[in-house]
Amino acid sequence: MEEVTRILAIETSCDETAAAVIENGRALRSSVVASQMDMHARYGGVFPEVASRQHVLSILPVVQEALDKANLTLDNMDAIAVTRGPGLAGSLVVGMNAAKGLALGSGKPLVGANHLEGHIYASWLYEAGTENPPEAPGFPLIALLVSGGHSEIDLMTDHLTYQRLGATLDDAAGEAFDKVARLLGLPYPGGPSVQKAAESGDPAAFKFTRPKTDGPWDFSFSGIKTAVLYTIRDLEKAGQPIPVNDIAASFQATVIDYLISKTVDAARAHNVRELLLAGGVSANKPLREAFLKLQNDGFKVHIPKFAYCTDNAAMIAAAGAFRFMHGHTSGLEVDVLPTWPLS
Ligand SMILES: Nc1ncnc2c1ncn2[C@@H]1O[C@H](COP(=O)(O)OP(=O)(O)OP(=O)(O)O)[C@@H](O)[C@H]1O
Ligand SMILES: [Mg+2]
Repeated sequence: MEEVTRILAIETSCDETAAAVIENGRALRSSVVASQMDMHARYGGVFPEVASRQHVLSILPVVQEALDKANLTLDNMDAIAVTRGPGLAGSLVVGMNAAKGLALGSGKPLVGANHLEGHIYASWLYEAGTENPPEAPGFPLIALLVSGGHSEIDLMTDHLTYQRLGATLDDAAGEAFDKVARLLGLPYPGGPSVQKAAESGDPAAFKFTRPKTDGPWDFSFSGIKTAVLYTIRDLEKAGQPIPVNDIAASFQATVIDYLISKTVDAARAHNVRELLLAGGVSANKPLREAFLKLQNDGFKVHIPKFAYCTDNAAMIAAAGAFRFMHGHTSGLEVDVLPTWPLS
């Protein structure tokens, strides 16, 4: 009989309590996400103490639901994977302690996974039972990782091997979407609201300059955000209405063009033909479309399914499984790493 490696994964780095079960690093048996979005919406962002206390309430029911949906028990698992970081310390600790308890109780090994690595490994996922699973990304590849807290371009020459070619010098791309949404009076969370407003706006209505950076593959988003702020202020001073949709569309188009052009430049400079999109901003529809279009330029392109773009445990299951299959496990004394970089 074929050998199957099964992993239970837990993710609590921010405001989603999540658990998932995966086989052989790719075939997802279950993925459960309990969102706290409504609870944080009234604060206009994630309130850390509320987040960790909600994780305490949700974690065991979410883990049980993931096992039930997979039709498996803890006994069937080969290891327990958990996000060590980066993320909010108080949130990470809840998932970590739950994972330690499960590992200790079941005698299964513990695997500490990196949340950003998880975002990247979301492109390996498919639902168990899928007839023609998508081809796995191949190496070398260039990953564009754009999330709420991080934005970087990485060269992957093999599994779990990252060389950071460039990164944001200030705000993350998702953070810029969130801040611009606030400036425009659009509801939390900002990314999807900006995307929605942009649908009925003119992307050429306003010109926001793309900031120059010393490093060719670095980004800067705070300048674009400030340009949006000044545009709004000038219109207000002149007593003119704020064309929210046009500003949203122009901002979004600028960011997408900036991200895509840097990614393509980095790939060409390193002679790489495979591109991978990762992180919460990869949920952005026009960005996904622009990324997919790069196939016409001879690139092989990987984007995660929409459900696995923002925080979830399926991606941690994939990343944790590849770590486990490469011999990485953690002792029960491991601590969380709230600022753990990818490379
Ligand atoms: N459709 C969208 N368009 C643009 N941005 C989006 C969209 N959907 C989500 N985002 C952005 O993605 C971010 C959330 O992504 P994610 O959940 O990966 O962030 P995080 O986990 O908080 O940060 P990190 O992964 O860096 O630790 C938010 O900034 C959100 O605005
Ligand atoms: Mg994330």
